[in-house]
Amino acid sequence: MPFPATRLRRLRRTPALRGLVRETRLDPADFVYPMFVEAGLSGRTPIGSMPGVDRLSISEAVNEAGEAAALGIPAVLLFGIPAEKDAEGTGAYDDEGIVQLATRAIKEAHPDLLVIGDVCLCEYTDHGHCGLLTSAGEVDNDSSVDLHAKTAVSLARAGADIIAPSDMMDGRVGAIRTALDDEGFTDTPIMAYSAKFASAFYGPFRDAADSTPAFGDRRAYQMDPANGDEAVREAVLDVEEGADVVMVKPALPYLDVIWRVKERTGLPVAAYNVSGEYAMVKAAAAAGHLDERTTVLETLTSIRRAGADIVITYHAKDAARWIQQ
Ligand code: PBG
Repeated sequence: MPFPATRLRRLRRTPALRGLVRETRLDPADFVYPMFVEAGLSGRTPIGSMPGVDRLSISEAVNEAGEAAALGIPAVLLFGIPAEKDAEGTGAYDDEGIVQLATRAIKEAHPDLLVIGDVCLCEYTDHGHCGLLTSAGEVDNDSSVDLHAKTAVSLARAGADIIAPSDMMDGRVGAIRTALDDEGFTDTPIMAYSAKFASAFYGPFRDAADSTPAFGDRRAYQMDPANGDEAVREAVLDVEEGADVVMVKPALPYLDVIWRVKERTGLPVAAYNVSGEYAMVKAAAAAGHLDERTTVLETLTSIRRAGADIVITYHAKDAARWIQQ
């Protein structure tokens, strides 16, 4: 029955009616809060392009994790800035590495909060690439995968509840699953950065983590932003290799990919609302061009509507506060 019998505005008239038919709701229980922990730091250092996000000492990370937990956020995702970087990214798989130490400290203070350990070498290598280099200066897949598996075991041993490989090497999910199982971590889930695109939106993160590649770029391992079919293929392969959760990253420019990956895999899907997406909103809000609160809530809602079950976002604490108000 067309207009005038059908009038869609009938259900938009009041807040109560709109609430009754709302299809997507935001819940802090679906958020993951990323944090940067720096070795040897006392206190915190602001990250210029990401107002509200700081590099943290271990004790500040414990405090901040506690704040997230108190707001109903179930998980934090840890990135480390080591005291020293080297060609092999040794700091990533050092049992006394910065993320391992921070994980132990956070788990001790907040046992119910989930700690997710990011597995990648780029924050730990002096050349800033996500794996080991060959003499020709290319990132070698298979030797890198061995170190990622070693990193995963080290993080699990430190108490990480979920392992999240972000390096985009082929075969790393299977290798990590085997390594975890061999060490008795059969119950530690893998959240795979399955469709991680070679994106300009990681810029602020690389400043924060000092992980900009010293030469070249990441296009020989991260995905071409133009490819949706390939993103689905990446996700399906990760599922076959044992991924428990698949991720799409960044989020906003790839909402179609989130949808396709969810439809195809049926797995829990995570979407990473990355540093550049955060920086854009903060800069526009600071300039008075956008209202931060409504922009953030609309953005996070769109990511959930696209099919993401889990939203990793630097806005998590603010959004949790706004949702609770
Ligand atoms: C490490 C990693 C990156 C991000 C998460 N893990 C950076 C990159 O691949 O260069 C980006 C997160 C963000 O931009 O918020 N491989």
